[in-house]
Amino acid sequence: MSHIISVHPLASLPMATAAVINPRTSIDSLRSTTTSRSNILHRLQKALPTADKDVWASTHGSKPNPLPARFADLKKQLIKSNDYDAVQASWDRLLLALEKRSVEIASAGPAAVPYVNFTDIQASNGQFPTEIAETIRTAGCCVVRGVVPRAQALEWKASLISYVDRHQDIRRIPSASDPQIYVTFWQKAQIEARSHPAVIRAQVAMSQLYKANEDTEVDLVNQALYADRWRVRRPGAPGAFGPHLDNGSIERWEDEEYRKVFGKIWEGKWEEYDAWDMDHRAEAIMDLYGGPGACSAFRSLQGWLSIDDNGPQYFSTSFFGADPGQGQVVKDIWHPHLCLNKTVVSCPKASPGDYLFWHCDLVHSVEKEHKGSNDSSVIYIPVVPLCGYNVGNLVEQRKAFLEGVPPPDMPPESETEGLERDHEDRGKPEDILTMEGRRLMGLEPFEVNEVGITKGQKAIRQIANEALGF
Ligand SMILES: [Fe+2]
Repeated sequence: MSHIISVHPLASLPMATAAVINPRTSIDSLRSTTTSRSNILHRLQKALPTADKDVWASTHGSKPNPLPARFADLKKQLIKSNDYDAVQASWDRLLLALEKRSVEIASAGPAAVPYVNFTDIQASNGQFPTEIAETIRTAGCCVVRGVVPRAQALEWKASLISYVDRHQDIRRIPSASDPQIYVTFWQKAQIEARSHPAVIRAQVAMSQLYKANEDTEVDLVNQALYADRWRVRRPGAPGAFGPHLDNGSIERWEDEEYRKVFGKIWEGKWEEYDAWDMDHRAEAIMDLYGGPGACSAFRSLQGWLSIDDNGPQYFSTSFFGADPGQGQVVKDIWHPHLCLNKTVVSCPKASPGDYLFWHCDLVHSVEKEHKGSNDSSVIYIPVVPLCGYNVGNLVEQRKAFLEGVPPPDMPPESETEGLERDHEDRGKPEDILTMEGRRLMGLEPFEVNEVGITKGQKAIRQIANEALGF
């Protein structure tokens, strides 16, 4: 393939020294906070995997690839020398906690993933009831049952399959002879699912499990589109992904803002770390290198909507409770304390219309073999809160939607494969079901004068509107 990108400018820069992200007043201020962040609005077109740079860091062998020497200095910046003893003591406490928790998860199995009925969210004014909210925060994942009617979900599946049957040139992953993931982003059924009022309502309920300060420029009730693909995994099909994380790898330590998310851990106070605190996630850069395994949008929660009957025996996403430019893999020999053999469990049963969510820092994997008798079929739809890091993404996603081309976070188009752009029957703006759907796709302005919103919400809505040209 000829689609080679240049190395991201950040890769060659020394560590930035700016300590804080200043409040924004305009899209220009978002662009120009610091030199090293000047590219925050410009998403990098993904490179295709090559022989030298695969999507995931190599899991072969017992030793990770050596990192460049500059990372030795980075380690010194992460922990202050005064905190060394506290960090060691914190680590010792964490190991005990992990051991205890791993036994609990192993004994619970799929029941370690909590569930809630969508009707309970509706009855609680669009929020999770308090007790279940805390359970979900602890587990880091949940299934929301009955988000859309079964018949609707099955209809979307039939529509998706009918489309790729009509368009045999659409790329199949891993191969045309063993299709599991279909590379379409803009099918009518995908547009409808993303803009369905109940789907959005479930997302907003999940998004609001996070907390943010009054001034933090993040909007937990509005989102920025992240167009992903869909999957039909047939019985017996082998899996492709071991345990991993998607929201960046070395970026967690290399990007100053991302590093602050985990500040309490580096002070030796892991118990005070709050995985649901949005304050430093909103502008953390999760993709410094444009590598094929990194995600250049901040998905606070990943998720899929079930479009077939999926049971616990044949689920394909599992849960437990770095190389630059590549996805973060997790493996026993490198991370023995995660007790992956105990803490990775299958998901519970999910029916068409059920919606599974998992926290962005939750390790997940695809089972080696799909042992069930039904297709394991899902549409991937994450939660992508409107924040500084996602504004540029939204602008690019809207452009890709209107043109019918792959969004910037996905591998670029190939000369040998079909493009939705050339398919008259792809999804169009008129297929969007709701005003909220139009807004999250960048086709309507965000409401800046809404009563009761925070200063940060108002600011980021203004910035997004400006970036979108409203
Ligand atoms: Fe993943």
